[in-house]
Amino acid sequence: MFDAQSFIEESIEELKAKITQTAIIACSGGVDSTVAAVLAHRAVGDLLHCVYVDTGFMRKGETQEVEQMFADAGIDLITVDASDRYFDALVGVTEPEHKRKVIGEMFIRIFEEEQVKVDAHCLVQGTIAPDWIESGGGVRDTIKSHHNVGGLPEDMTLEVVEPLRELYKDEVRDLARALGIKVAERQPFPGPGLAVRTLGDLTKERVAVVRECCAIVEEEFQAASERGEMDLPWQYYAALLPVRSVGVHGDVRAYGETIVVRAVKSMDGMSARYSEIPHSILQKVSTKITNACKGAVNRVVYDITHKPPGTIEWE
Ligand code: XMP
Repeated sequence: MFDAQSFIEESIEELKAKITQTAIIACSGGVDSTVAAVLAHRAVGDLLHCVYVDTGFMRKGETQEVEQMFADAGIDLITVDASDRYFDALVGVTEPEHKRKVIGEMFIRIFEEEQVKVDAHCLVQGTIAPDWIESGGGVRDTIKSHHNVGGLPEDMTLEVVEPLRELYKDEVRDLARALGIKVAERQPFPGPGLAVRTLGDLTKERVAVVRECCAIVEEEFQAASERGEMDLPWQYYAALLPVRSVGVHGDVRAYGETIVVRAVKSMDGMSARYSEIPHSILQKVSTKITNACKGAVNRVVYDITHKPPGTIEWE
């Protein structure tokens, strides 16, 4: 049985010993990096600089929510708007591993720039066990280079500190609850964000479609679960597929792309089963998506693949 309180106490002592000079932490607003930031902040206070990079691949309203969450926790947050840099770096990049490498490297470059500004020597990260196991850190093959692991360039100059390295997602959520941070019940969101939910060309327009569709899936599933019509899945989202098909809007032929809706049940993300969502709810989501994205999306499909053999994200 995982003892969150003991872990917090031990981890704060370890972080105090490890972080003796200025440190920065990449805060995405997700459970892992927020818990790592709160632990490190409790350990070293203002020695820690929390940096949030707006990659342009965040969900609807996410940047404002993250800023508010840190303000509520009494921790200063530096927001860096890097969306133009990300889109420029990713022109023509569609292969998933290549995409993850470019995103990971850009992340580190931005942190190096911030490091110079605050003269930091140490980078705190919210890496958890499945991140490095699935990035080939264990005996297994590399399945995906999670951006906070595989994307690290070899010439990186910061010392990396990873307080959650041996933990699984459910344990990190226990920590978040024990630390009293609001993020505990948020669903997981991949480091590379909507970029790995936008298959094919990464344009601002296509990412905006994914952002809108993810918001629709979240709103509809959450509302249905509040009405008692379904259990909220562990993770649920929309991804845009570069598959065009013929449809019809009114009397007019439409040649649009495809949204796939994915929802899974899982304990720790290592394996997952697709969620059985009532058809009436899926149908509502489908209608909302095709109405909101007229011209861009004319087909919505539901993914019924477990992990394995699929992964939770499509890239
Ligand atoms: P997969 O797609 O590998 O995802 O089955 C397992 C869980 O990890 C999330 N995920 C990531 N998290 N950086 C992260 O911090 C990443 O690069 C990344 N890729 C996937 C995914 O959303 C799921 O919860």
